Amino acid sequence: MNASLPAEAIAALTQETIYITQPHLSPLEDFIPYLREIWDSKVLTNGGPFHQHLEKALEEYLGVDHLALFSNGTLALVTALQALRITGEVITTPYSFVTTAHSLLWNGIKPVFVDVDPHTLNMDLAKIEAAITPQTTAILPVHYYGYPCAIQQPFSALPTTTT
Ligand SMILES: Cc1ncc(COP(=O)(O)O)c(C=O)c1O
Repeated sequence: MNASLPAEAIAALTQETIYITQPHLSPLEDFIPYLREIWDSKVLTNGGPFHQHLEKALEEYLGVDHLALFSNGTLALVTALQALRITGEVITTPYSFVTTAHSLLWNGIKPVFVDVDPHTLNMDLAKIEAAITPQTTAILPVHYYGYPCAIQQPFSALPTTTT
């Protein structure tokens, strides 16, 4: 099959790293004035001025009264599960960064995996209902590669919350 490709093309294909996702970053120069301000203030932690400013701006943008920034997505997930008092079993996807399952396990919650839809690679919504048990307290979908996992329908087997 590779017989028609020149050797250099095959070498380039096998050496080039192809990332599954990459961030879009603004030019570094745009950040330098802000970094200078941070350097000058010497405040790098404990809710510094930039932290507070971003929280406030995001609250206004999203129209919410309370918002908390976290240093990474893992901590945000772990804390959100605790804030929502999630326990027992949570239905989620096996096709995600390992943090999805870790955040559950670290909270003593059992991840219950349902397979993904081969077209969207998100959790197959048609398989959720069958995975619900009396211990299920939440469904944790992941929206991968910019393709929303569009959970909209109510799940009749889901136990109703009392808290
Ligand atoms: C779906 C998902 N959740 C959580 C995380 C964890 O984010 P962080 O690396 O900021 O802790 C990642 C990271 O890739 C992720 O892809």
